[in-house]
Amino acid sequence: MKLNIALLAGDGIGPEVIDQAVKVCNAVAVKFNHEINWTPALTGSAAIDACGEPYPDETHEICVNADAVLFGAIGHPKYDNDPSAKVRPEQGLLKMRKKLGLFANVRPTFTFPSLIDNSPLKRERIEGTDLVFLRELTGGIYFGEKGRRDDGETAFDNCVYTRAEVQRLAKKGFELAMTRSKKLCCVDKANVLETSRLWRETVQAMENEYPEVTVSYEFVDAVAMRLVQWPNSYDVLITENLFGDILTDEASVISGSMGLMPSASVGEKTSLYEPIHGSYPQATGLDIANPLATILSAAMMFEDAFGLTQEAEAIKNVVNKSLVEGIVTEDLSGKNKAYKTSEVGDWLAKNI
Ligand code: IPM
Ligand code: MN
Repeated sequence: MKLNIALLAGDGIGPEVIDQAVKVCNAVAVKFNHEINWTPALTGSAAIDACGEPYPDETHEICVNADAVLFGAIGHPKYDNDPSAKVRPEQGLLKMRKKLGLFANVRPTFTFPSLIDNSPLKRERIEGTDLVFLRELTGGIYFGEKGRRDDGETAFDNCVYTRAEVQRLAKKGFELAMTRSKKLCCVDKANVLETSRLWRETVQAMENEYPEVTVSYEFVDAVAMRLVQWPNSYDVLITENLFGDILTDEASVISGSMGLMPSASVGEKTSLYEPIHGSYPQATGLDIANPLATILSAAMMFEDAFGLTQEAEAIKNVVNKSLVEGIVTEDLSGKNKAYKTSEVGDWLAKNI
């Protein structure tokens, strides 16, 4: 099969972890007889430096014309403490999500048996955790009528949702629940927010289309607590953009390292696959960042974008093997030898 993949390395550790994912994908292509055509494109701070725009039109063209997008990370510290910056790298990611219509962000959280004790949470709490967040990605407070400052003293951000936006996300949630344990949790703040009441009402009205799915409605503050208390009581969770952003970072702690969790953003056009971690600027260029979240995102890409299940399994298996054998970066190595980002990538590619 011919696979046309847009490669957006982005900022910080993005290029380093993307390099490892490319090595592993190319090894998969050799083993399973595929041809991958990688098309690199600029995004984030690197794109601002090159042309003043964090998601240039040329990059969008490349993404729209690709079969899938593999993405590294976005963000640069030079913008973090400059609230007056007019253009920010993160705007590139938001624009890309919007222009590609990526309204659903699939963020799984699971544990690796060999890493259970790496998690700060107790083994008996997290064993068997296997849940998936479906985070709405192109609406809510991230995209409401432009956030603004009045008179320099008052700031606004507006949270807006339409019924149609909730329905299309919830539909994906119900469908995913049908392929798993038929349990769906709608996370909202319906005791306070009008948008949350619209979410709840919309999801309730869809329940009769999926009679086999048991739906629970829980407030986001309670979910934040139960997620670390009894994560394995959850299966599929649907939620709005900002709640999903916060809860998925929290959930990544369950697996033992933020450097492990992959994600897929899907919607109207080309799907995008990216690690849930950020650009980790302190580690940029040091060859120490964990590449596994990006490599597991590539596995999601093989499976979801191309229907290549065996290829995805091969990647997941070799990742598991590396964890069992301790071929891991410093975030996971404990007192044992820490391997470099590039060494982990080489090992995985060789053992695929
Ligand atoms: C994420 C990130 C982004 C978000 C940032 C970089 C804009 O934190 O993908 O979770 O808030 O959505
Ligand atoms: Mn985030």
